[in-house]
Amino acid sequence: MPYETLSVTSADRIATITVNRPDKLNALNDRVIAELGDAIDAARESAEVAGVILTGAGRAFVAGADISELESHGAISAKMLAQRGQDVFRRYETSPKPVVAAVNGFALGGGCELAMACHIRIASDAAKFGQPEVKLGLIPGYGGTQRLPRLIGKGRALQLLLTGEIIDANEAYRIGLVNRVVPAADLIATATTMLHGILANGPLAVAYCVEVVNRGYDLTLDEALTLEATAFGLLAATDDKREGTQAFLDKRPARFTGA
Ligand code: COA
Repeated sequence: MPYETLSVTSADRIATITVNRPDKLNALNDRVIAELGDAIDAARESAEVAGVILTGAGRAFVAGADISELESHGAISAKMLAQRGQDVFRRYETSPKPVVAAVNGFALGGGCELAMACHIRIASDAAKFGQPEVKLGLIPGYGGTQRLPRLIGKGRALQLLLTGEIIDANEAYRIGLVNRVVPAADLIATATTMLHGILANGPLAVAYCVEVVNRGYDLTLDEALTLEATAFGLLAATDDKREGTQAFLDKRPARFTGA
């Protein structure tokens, strides 16, 4: 798909997906959602890509769903719109390749939800976060009511959801919504360095961490621990585990092959 609303670049095994609709603060219209889906599928499938950075062009990460498109929806089509977005965001969340959100500016509504679907969030000190849907007479439709309480706890999540208040990057860090806050000029370099650190680890181990955390989250502890033990067992039979443990004993960096 030729992208109209994204720019995608690749370097050093990292695909950088930039939502590129800065005149509308990168608001998520149907086209952006479809292209975001295509871009993560392409990154997941590409042998040259091992990890993804997701960011926004201009002064926003993503300022939410495109409010001008919401007008035209009735009950059923709005439900389908929400489910299409949820499906695309889930493909980021379940990517076996790590996805880091580099939140450069406004991450409101669907933008906050998109960042939450990524594995790690690095925020610029200019970033702003919020779920202001109640101000439009709506609730989040791209996972915000579910991922926000899981990430920051029910009490704080309900505060953000019910007030629609917008918080700055330091407050987002304080409540656990983002992993780090850095000066705007250092944002992409910090995300890149963190991602390279992850990519130096065993790729199968990284993929299984994502899968076991995601799948285990809603299971009973006993079921989730069984899932963890099974994945641990599978990994114990890989070349990567042999290489990782041998490299430690040899006091040298591991050379993982993902096999
Ligand atoms: N949907 C559609 N267009 C949007 C948008 C959205 N979610 N967010 C911003 N835009 C557009 C504005 O309409 C404006 O377009 P225009 O220049 O053609 O009029 C442009 O982006 C710039 O936004 P503007 O509001 O002028 O910038 P600002 O600096 O004054 O305010 C925000 C920035 C983010 C506070 C404000 O744009 C805003 O509140 N956006 C909506 C956030 C929201 O409710 N998101 C949840 C949606 S479910």
